[in-house]
Amino acid sequence: MSEFPADIYTEPSNIDVDTLKNLGPLRAMAGIWQGQRGLDVKPKAEGPKKQAYVERMELQPIDPVSNGPQLLYGLRYLTHIVKPEQVKTYHEQVGYWLWESATGTVIHTLTIPRGQTVMAAGKASADATEFELLATRESDSFGICSIPFLDYAFRTVEFRIKVSINPDGSWSYDEDTVLLIRGQAEPFHHRDRNTLVRIAAPTPNPLGRP
Ligand code: HEM
Repeated sequence: MSEFPADIYTEPSNIDVDTLKNLGPLRAMAGIWQGQRGLDVKPKAEGPKKQAYVERMELQPIDPVSNGPQLLYGLRYLTHIVKPEQVKTYHEQVGYWLWESATGTVIHTLTIPRGQTVMAAGKASADATEFELLATRESDSFGICSIPFLDYAFRTVEFRIKVSINPDGSWSYDEDTVLLIRGQAEPFHHRDRNTLVRIAAPTPNPLGRP
């Protein structure tokens, strides 16, 4: 039996249009954030290299989304990363963080301008302060797509991100991107960690504005 309804067209009625009230565990992440103490472990020809980084992130509510009967609430995501004291982009990602309350699912989509796109998912309760999302290269749904050169030289087989909402209102992520690097016997763990402190409140979604 399918976990999905036979009627794939009828949308839910009486949708609450105020996204900020319906984000489940993502509510604590809405807003504009800064992280001064990021740490990246990246692949270099001579081996793993550690690099400190500074991050600015925007997570702004979007209007509710319905796929037929399925209802998603979400945040539009943009992060921009530099090395301390530098202007040049070190890394950036755009995408969404989505919450489906009916199934207790968090979904994170991200696109990286080196030619990669990822969709990761995991289960959480609406009031969770810790959750983990996973994408694997083999998955048809929660997978990883890379341009041919990256698939040849730095094959990305797994992406995992753990989110912790901290008691002081900040939140932290710890992510592990597993790369199979051409010529290396062991998988490479490209780790990234940061703690984000809110610098501005979120702007309500278009339909949720008074
Ligand atoms: C905060 C998060 C991240 C930062 C700061 C970051 C930063 C970097 C940097 C600076 C490099 C280049 C190493 C060099 O050649 O100097 C790199 C390589 C790479 N990253 Fe990331 N990365 C992040 C997350 C990710 C994620 C989420 C993925 C994929 C799901 C990813 C995939 C790759 C791949 C495949 C490479 C190898 C490509 C190459 O070196 O030419 N990265 N990363």
